Amino acid sequence: MKVTFIGAGPGAADLITVRGARALAEANLVLYAGSLVSKDMLVHCGPQAVIMDTAGMNLEEQVAEYVRAKAAGWNVARLHSGDPAIYGAISEQMRALEELDISYEVIPGVSSFTASAAVLRASLTRPEVSQTIIITRADGRASAVPEKESLASLAAHESSLAIFLSGASLSKVVEELLSKLPGTTPAALVCKASWPQEKHHTATLDTLLDGLSQDDWRLSTMLLVGEALASTPGAHSRLYSPGYSHRFRKASREAREPLSRTP
Ligand SMILES: C[S@@+](CC[C@H](N)C(=O)[O-])C[C@H]1O[C@@H](n2cnc3c(N)ncnc32)[C@H](O)[C@@H]1O
Repeated sequence: MKVTFIGAGPGAADLITVRGARALAEANLVLYAGSLVSKDMLVHCGPQAVIMDTAGMNLEEQVAEYVRAKAAGWNVARLHSGDPAIYGAISEQMRALEELDISYEVIPGVSSFTASAAVLRASLTRPEVSQTIIITRADGRASAVPEKESLASLAAHESSLAIFLSGASLSKVVEELLSKLPGTTPAALVCKASWPQEKHHTATLDTLLDGLSQDDWRLSTMLLVGEALASTPGAHSRLYSPGYSHRFRKASREAREPLSRTP
């Protein structure tokens, strides 16, 4: 008997990994957070699966299901939205499973921040603009953000920012970002990336909320910010330059640049 934490991806049923779908097909018990994971994902469950929505269950009640599954010799699939390692609250479940001597594994998933970048057809890293992505979240009741990771201090790096769980506090978040970033910084909201209800809104920080009904963006919304989102053409990576050699490709003789080990 084993528990498999599975990254369900951002929503669309075909954005789960092949390995995740296989584990789902084989599970006897499937636990999923109905508030975050699309029901469409359950199409991958086998006919034997008992399916439970954990949205109304506390940790103790979920652990009780793991205990029952162990007694029955059932394999359990626990679906988490996006990738389970990001704001997935899996560590407390893992500790509980270790105490119960139940083995577990984690199957990664497509996180909503990369799914949101895909919606925007944006690259979050661009040569000479930003080579760093900061994943953070708005302060919340369930988990406070440590003071040393305040949005203002992270924004000061001028890296690309992927701000999770910010839909309910957009005004406050934007105000804090504007304390360190120019108003002209590109910013985008993506709601329910890959769901049928998907929508997005692109602007700059100082105009992002103009005329926006913030209530329509409260849930499942990603805020991406940074100059990398700008549509202006910029410098190119040398990776595909005809003159750039690396381990797997030799530069053409005419355009050769010095040999480098890293792209
Ligand atoms: C509890 S966190 C879970 C994050 C998840 N583990 C991940 O890797 O995407 C929930 C937050 O993720 C973001 N999110 C989840 N699904 C999304 C989607 N389909 N589109 C945009 N943002 C999404 C939103 O910021 C939402 O408030």
